[in-house]
Amino acid sequence: MSDLMKVSVTVNGRSYQAAVEPRLLLSDFLRHELGLTGTHVGCEHGVCGACTVLFDGQAVRSCLMFAVQAHGHELMTVEGLAPDPQHLHPLQEAFREAHGLQCGFCTPGFLMTLLPYLEQNPNPTEEEIRLAISGNLCRCTGYQHIVDAVKLAAEKMGS
Ligand code: FES
Ligand code: FES
Repeated sequence: MSDLMKVSVTVNGRSYQAAVEPRLLLSDFLRHELGLTGTHVGCEHGVCGACTVLFDGQAVRSCLMFAVQAHGHELMTVEGLAPDPQHLHPLQEAFREAHGLQCGFCTPGFLMTLLPYLEQNPNPTEEEIRLAISGNLCRCTGYQHIVDAVKLAAEKMGS
């Protein structure tokens, strides 16, 4: 076993300290060390987008980063989206209302990709939406309902 390294990180507004192996992936750190299993792991090599989280506000693939790279940084996972257990974020509401998910495995990655995207692009065209989600793979929905959900989310987040 290699020497452990200290990681001090803020996730969803809460501080965590841990000692981890340098080779530990950020996705595995979030899921296995912090218990934040909303971040899903599909391909583990940067293709599917299921593991997307926010790193200092930017969408990143947590399977392509080591946990130690997050030291001193601020992360947000899908667990940080809803304001409280009784209410969903408008983005989540839109996915539910427009049937933007079936099995839901891909959904956390879509949501975390779309949060900063819609904050920066409040009125995207359908073509822009399709481009924005082109790095997130869904095996269930055929994407049309996801696109509809993003349009609805843009309306809700803008209102
Ligand atoms: S699990 Fe990270 S991109 Fe697929
Ligand atoms: S809803 Fe099943 S993979 Fe997207």
